[in-house]
Amino acid sequence: MNKKESKISASLMCTNPFFTKETMDSLEKANIEYMHLDIMDGKFVPNLGLGCDYIKKLRGYTKIPFDYHLMVLEPDAILPLLDIKPEDLVSIHFESTFQVQRTLENVKKYGPKVMLAINPATPVSALEEVIHYIDGINILTVNPGFAGQPIVESSFRKIEKLFNFLKEVGREDIDVEVDGNITFKNANILKGMGANIFVAGTSSIFGKEGIIEGSIEKLRDAISGNSSVDKMIA
Ligand code: DX5
Ligand code: ZN
Repeated sequence: MNKKESKISASLMCTNPFFTKETMDSLEKANIEYMHLDIMDGKFVPNLGLGCDYIKKLRGYTKIPFDYHLMVLEPDAILPLLDIKPEDLVSIHFESTFQVQRTLENVKKYGPKVMLAINPATPVSALEEVIHYIDGINILTVNPGFAGQPIVESSFRKIEKLFNFLKEVGREDIDVEVDGNITFKNANILKGMGANIFVAGTSSIFGKEGIIEGSIEKLRDAISGNSSVDKMIA
């Protein structure tokens, strides 16, 4: 039974930029736990994302902690450009630096929860030598860089392997974030498997104009761990 408190991380790359202020106010009213900020350099992923100056300005408009997802090569160089706070999450990609353990130590210096992100094709065994340097894992369930993609089906089997591994090494305490095509159904399944942070994007709460009416409540239900709800989740 997954007793960890479920948290929603709303993916700002999925919002309509013309409605960002209203969207952020609504997310705050809904007590969303994190703002998921996809930072992309066009090299680690074939897309460009939210810039550091823009993100710094966002901080002035919301009290919600940031969930930085660094989809960039050499993430160490980006860290000083961000306004990282102790209540934030910072995910660096295993595949984005030759010196993963050093980069994780660098992230730790800024005080946030240190998260390691891995792409769909990166095996759980990649975590073996760094599992004691991290506070959480961000499992990409799509190939990162774009919203609106379908889940990579092998993610479910991989996440099962992940929780067996975490049990083996005594790290069942850490956060497990899932990022990519987290529909209500996928969120419900992944909650049942042990995930506890859910990236909410176009697959759940965001439509063309902004937040879809009733979608946050539906996602909350899907990740409530309440078995009577599970059957109703489509
Ligand atoms: C993927 C991004 C996420 C997410 C967007 O690279 O990191 O923010 O996939 O949400 P969906 O997949 O629901 O559109
Ligand atoms: Zn992301």
